[in-house]
Amino acid sequence: MALSFAKDIRPLFRYEDIECMTPMGIPLDDPAWMCVAENAQSVYATVADGSMPPGEPWPSDRVALFKQWMDAGCPA
Ligand code: HEM
Repeated sequence: MALSFAKDIRPLFRYEDIECMTPMGIPLDDPAWMCVAENAQSVYATVADGSMPPGEPWPSDRVALFKQWMDAGCPA
């Protein structure tokens, strides 16, 4: 089945992720922002290098899923 932000990506973010990042202009729960390729790429960079979320890096399969979604064109 095709990947989508709503079904596959939005659930990867916890309440605290959204709460920390939205005031910094990075609304992880907002498809209007996240489904723009350059925004998704900036988010990807931090989960791929393990810097976000702080102290609790994503497992590699989750990083790979995010990459797969980006490669599919960041569908909402
Ligand atoms: C999956 C969850 C998260 C993602 C995808 C994420 C993403 C990002 C991104 C894209 C930046 C900008 C980095 C840059 O400009 O180089 C950033 C910065 C930052 N984030 Fe997050 N974040 C997450 C969770 C959190 C949480 C839970 C906190 C607070 C506990 C947090 C605190 C910060 C802070 C303080 C900065 C600015 C300073 C820094 O770069 O370390 N983030 N984050």
